[in-house]
Amino acid sequence: MPLLRSAFIALSRNRVLRNFSERSIVGRRMSSRFVAGMEIDDALRVAEAVNQQGMAVTLDSLGESVTSETEAHKAADVYHQLLDLIAARKLNANISVKLTQMGLELSPKLADTIARSLAEHASRSGSFVRIDMEDSSLTRVTLDIVRRLHARPDLRGAIGIVIQAYLYRSEADIEQLAADGIRVRLCKGAYKEPAEVAFARKADVDASFIRLSKILLESPAYHALATHDEAMIAAAKSFAKQRGIDPSRFEFQMLYGVRRDLQRNLVREGYNVRVYVPFGREWYPYFMRRLAERPANALFLARNFFRA
Ligand code: FDA
Repeated sequence: MPLLRSAFIALSRNRVLRNFSERSIVGRRMSSRFVAGMEIDDALRVAEAVNQQGMAVTLDSLGESVTSETEAHKAADVYHQLLDLIAARKLNANISVKLTQMGLELSPKLADTIARSLAEHASRSGSFVRIDMEDSSLTRVTLDIVRRLHARPDLRGAIGIVIQAYLYRSEADIEQLAADGIRVRLCKGAYKEPAEVAFARKADVDASFIRLSKILLESPAYHALATHDEAMIAAAKSFAKQRGIDPSRFEFQMLYGVRRDLQRNLVREGYNVRVYVPFGREWYPYFMRRLAERPANALFLARNFFRA
């Protein structure tokens, strides 16, 4: 399985296959299991349906690693439109943003400026911007930008971050973020990282996830535990019960199209659930990371595709 995971992660960076897949009808049909659609309207329609099932949403306009300032501003415009539409349609939704899509690799200042204007917009419209976490070469700069923005009194509570349990540094980061009152989404981590910076064994990543969940659950800010792993969810539920932490003080997050049964069960049990809904034409790297997490998905998709 680790071999297959590496293969899918390598494929996620393959330009030729990406260009071909994103343009092909077959590729789009395959991706529809995990991606809401190509257009903003598709994402809003899915968000509304998810809200109707009692779950909140975070919208992700797919794309990463832009190569020009114009592209970064274009990507930001989509998010500004989303914030307006979320407010206009009274959706229970916020946005998830990748800083490399906002030009981080061209200039951290550009990404900082764009993230600031999104957080200001979110703050004005009563929404929230979650900054997704990308590979470990970007952890420090991402943390710096979020901390700097969150320190502005008008943006307090309008911006949050993601921490990956597989990184050794995450415990110290979480302690600091919790002390600063910055909202954290904890996940296991989706990139291929070297042994110098990240746990490689699933058992170690899981132990780290549980340890870090407990720190977050005990801290006063409203944090999110993003996982489809029933063992992680059971550990969080039992810790919260044992410490008298009310379910309204945190949320579980899951990806669109993944473990919908589990999403529904958590809602029925009275937990807050938020679904991460990605949309847009640049779905290929996202889709490949989902296959890397569970290579069996590739077989499942292929079977359904040929059956349909
Ligand atoms: P794990 O991978 O151990 O899987 C546990 C079980 O969950 C599997 O046995 C299977 O049953 C189910 N499952 C997991 N993935 C599945 C899939 N794709 N299809 C079907 N079943 C699946 N990562 C990151 O590096 N930066 C980020 O910003 C984010 N953001 C983010 C937001 C949200 C809302 C979620 C849920 C996840 C992320 N991630 C992320 C991805 C995260 O790091 C991780 O790669 C995936 O969530 C898979 O890990 P699990 O915790 O689900 O457990």
